[in-house]
Amino acid sequence: VDTGLKTHVLSAGAAATATAAGVLAEGGLVAFPTETVYGLGADAGNAAAIARLYQAKGRPAFNPLIAHVADLGAARRIALFNGQALRLAEAFWPGPLTLVLPKALSCPVAELATAGLDTVAIRIPAHKVARDIIKAFGGAVVAPSANLSGHVSPTTAEHVNGDLAGRIDLIVDGGPVEVGVESTIVGCFSDPVLLRPGGLTRAEIERVLGQPLQSPPQDAETDAQPVAPGMLASHYAPRTPVRLNASDVHVGEALLAFGPAKVARSECASVVMNLSERGDLAEAAANLFGYLRTLDKRNADAIAVTPIPEEGLGEAINDRLRRAAVGR
Ligand code: TXA
Ligand code: MG
Repeated sequence: VDTGLKTHVLSAGAAATATAAGVLAEGGLVAFPTETVYGLGADAGNAAAIARLYQAKGRPAFNPLIAHVADLGAARRIALFNGQALRLAEAFWPGPLTLVLPKALSCPVAELATAGLDTVAIRIPAHKVARDIIKAFGGAVVAPSANLSGHVSPTTAEHVNGDLAGRIDLIVDGGPVEVGVESTIVGCFSDPVLLRPGGLTRAEIERVLGQPLQSPPQDAETDAQPVAPGMLASHYAPRTPVRLNASDVHVGEALLAFGPAKVARSECASVVMNLSERGDLAEAAANLFGYLRTLDKRNADAIAVTPIPEEGLGEAINDRLRRAAVGR
């Protein structure tokens, strides 16, 4: 790994956009904000750059990447859209939705980025900085979340710097992201499948489809045969153990609360953070990864997390928390 590489940090703006596009064109690695989390971008057509990207993240090479494009025309040169995929793209792009689709015949995305699958994951991000960089670069940009593999996803440029300084070329700092959890991933096969809950709720997608989303096969979560390959059980793990659905606090635990209700024995907590005092799931999603990182630094015995409703964005929040609780 290229530790010892100088990682430049630039504030978002016209100069940073031009620099980022140039670095991508030369096969470099650029972290930039999207509306969901910060991504680590590389030229989707450059296998050497993508190999460096896997290496910089310490990511298993079988875990494929999302191609980020600026418009539907570019998306349709990469993937084959059926009617349902088109409807979802028109309803939700740009935005926090990724579609997994069959590859187009002369798909410009390198095999390495799709891990040898005959499908490709694709999205149009809504963040202005991300779109400006993709447009200036002029091609598709593959971008996983800009964290070390297995770590909590980054929602600020400081998080990216903490994980990847010395391993990547450039970080474009556009401030904290808005959504805070990754995009929702839908596989558009004969019946659309929810491969990863995320920043766009199941209910919104099902309303446009006019049918329920299917679940992926159960064995999707084994490390050996990932169906939604990134859905490894051990993703998103802080070092500190995570205890879910806590109704009270044990001495020496950190408390991650949600909503206005008082938690039993909360005076035992070494530190308390509340994802959303007023019980707002969007606010909780935006705070989730940053708070996990902060609490992880406090050397608590465990992070006790109070229950979060499994509705709307709560589905994605609970998914990430369950993965954090599995540990590594
Ligand atoms: O919000 C997001 O989606 C962020 C921002 C940067 O766009 N990106 C992101 O990328 O979360 P990453 O690499 O951390 O997660 C991508 C997920 C992985 O779980 C991967 O396995 C899955 O997408 N994926 C990629 N290509 C796939 C494919 N052809 N079939 C099934 N799953 C795929
Ligand atoms: Mg990730």
